[in-house]
Amino acid sequence: MDFELDEELVMVRDMARDFAEKELVPRATKHDRQEKIDPEVFGMLSELGLWGLTVPEEYGGAGMSNLALAVVLEELNRGCASTGVTVSVHNSLLGAPIKRFGNDEQKQRFLPELATGETIGAYCLTEAGAGSDAAALRTSAEDKGDHFLVNGEKLFVTNADFAGLFLVYVRTGKPEDKDKGISALLIPGDAEGLKVATKEKKCGIRGSATSSVELTNVVVPKENLLSGLNQGFKVAMDTLDGGRIGIAAQAVGIGRACLEASVKYSNEREQFGRAIGRFQAIQWKLADMSTRLDASRMLVHRAAWTRDRGEVCTPEAAKAKLMASITSNFCADECMQIHGGAGYTDDFHVERLFRDARITEIYEGATDIQRLIIARDLLA
Ligand code: CAA
Repeated sequence: MDFELDEELVMVRDMARDFAEKELVPRATKHDRQEKIDPEVFGMLSELGLWGLTVPEEYGGAGMSNLALAVVLEELNRGCASTGVTVSVHNSLLGAPIKRFGNDEQKQRFLPELATGETIGAYCLTEAGAGSDAAALRTSAEDKGDHFLVNGEKLFVTNADFAGLFLVYVRTGKPEDKDKGISALLIPGDAEGLKVATKEKKCGIRGSATSSVELTNVVVPKENLLSGLNQGFKVAMDTLDGGRIGIAAQAVGIGRACLEASVKYSNEREQFGRAIGRFQAIQWKLADMSTRLDASRMLVHRAAWTRDRGEVCTPEAAKAKLMASITSNFCADECMQIHGGAGYTDDFHVERLFRDARITEIYEGATDIQRLIIARDLLA
């Protein structure tokens, strides 16, 4: 057993760490306030090859592992969680399912432009009546011979505002078929009838774009069906196994930013004649934050490693996300407490970290859904 990252992983981690420190940390508050990521950051991510990190080399990607993606996402999210989730969704929720379920023609057509970042991807599962109960989705896809006619509305779609390709889950069977009547369609952003509608005003990760997507009589050729007819729910769930590892890595990254801010402040801030880091009450907080973050990171790496071995990683991904997201919020809360009144103002970036951490317990399957998945695996 080896806890060291290999040479290639250390190299990619250091590259992402350096980029995050130089380009994301100075922009993170700005991204939050302006509610969008600076356009030049998209180009920088292209230059570093981070849009196509796990896309195979034959399609123009870096052909790296899920573990590499997790390592990179921790670093990006430590710098800016809005940028981190944008990259995570693109890689895990769009590039990955095309790689895993696409036919040769679909891979040739879509992966090269996703790998360079020329096209950004979005994943459309959630609807007003289908959140945690994803199999209740109702967006319809009527079979018209050589194409489907798609109608419905998707909510909370990350990257929707600038996405050039949407992976949309639709009902091709009856509502009572639940998960057995769902298909996955690849729909280009410029398809007639696809409209990016309401942009959400969010508590945190405000720099990322989250919008609803309306689909009105959208014509989708049959060749854009990803995997088989009525096989879409398995695509959605398998994809979320990978996505949840990404969000767990995000949670560790945000938590680490909280720990680093707390250590710095504990050494600088003096009360009762000494640095507050000399008080045991503060030391215990720092020790717990660091320990829980290390444990979370190990779960993230184990889940990614399991997926890289081609094994089912559903419970491993759920455990990583459960532990890391709770830890992230724990760290954000302790960080706020250590900073006191100063942390509660927007003079420090601590209140942003506090807001950013919160979503990790909600999206890509809420904390209680992760518990449900883990318990079902135990009881099966
Ligand atoms: N991989 C492959 N197949 C899977 C699977 C997985 N991880 N999980 C389940 N399946 C299969 C099952 O084997 C089953 O197939 P069979 O009947 O052939 O065996 C089928 O799918 C149905 O599975 P379940 O009975 O477990 O389905 P369920 O209706 O009880 O739902 C659930 C399970 C885990 C609760 C699921 O609905 C779920 O994950 N809900 C949360 C949804 C979610 O995470 N949404 C996030 C949206 S994305 C987002 O957040 C926005 C963003 O852009 C960041």
